[in-house]
Amino acid sequence: MLTVYDYSMARILSETDLDMFLVGDSLGMNVLGFPSTLQVTMDHMVHHTRAVVRANPRQMIVVDMPFMSYELSNETAVRNAGELVREGADAVKLEGGVEMFERVKSIVRAGIPVMGHIGLTPQRYLALGGYRLIKDEEKILADAMALEEAGVFSIVIENVYAEIAKRVTEEVSVPTICIGAGPHCDGQVLVLHDLLGLGDISPYFAKKYLDLKTEIRDAVRKYTSEVREGKFPSRENYRVRDS
Ligand code: KIV
Ligand code: NA
Repeated sequence: MLTVYDYSMARILSETDLDMFLVGDSLGMNVLGFPSTLQVTMDHMVHHTRAVVRANPRQMIVVDMPFMSYELSNETAVRNAGELVREGADAVKLEGGVEMFERVKSIVRAGIPVMGHIGLTPQRYLALGGYRLIKDEEKILADAMALEEAGVFSIVIENVYAEIAKRVTEEVSVPTICIGAGPHCDGQVLVLHDLLGLGDISPYFAKKYLDLKTEIRDAVRKYTSEVREGKFPSRENYRVRDS
């Protein structure tokens, strides 16, 4: 699974063998310039979901429920999950474990598949004391069990010791999808901007497969120098009336 926030990337990624797209609320930092995911709203998620859905990918589209779209009540959680599904999401993802038991159950009861997200939950970085490695094994396990019991079809595990993710993967029957949680999971997820080398800061667990930031700067510098030197546009890039 990889994150994808827009139409052009969704078109390109739809031609790969990825299984799932995540319209992650990390779009708040990566494309909207917010300091965290706490500023992301339902309107933002709907806007980006529409763009990805228009690419009509073969992959399953999972959409993050943003901060404050599911915390208040079962009713608002179901309504907001339903809105994302109406826009074309195949499933929603929300953060939290034991405390989200009733929320997950309510959304699943409405016929909407839910993906869980435990370990480091970035929407709670304030209460967690930052974006840190989560070490409380028994809590992580209890969260995973509660989510499975509530009916999630899969669980993202973020930034925990590999041994803990391994244990969770062995003890729950739904697939685990890991980020910064080692290799002993059923699947892996990364932020596309980190993989492409586009992110401002990328976490220790991300791998940069491309240095696109440098490639983009080089391409743009080539363009501006060609314009200044009169090399672009060249004869094939324009029409003249009498030729
Ligand atoms: O929003 C996001 O990018 C995520 C992934 C890190 C799983 O939730
Ligand atoms: Na997210």
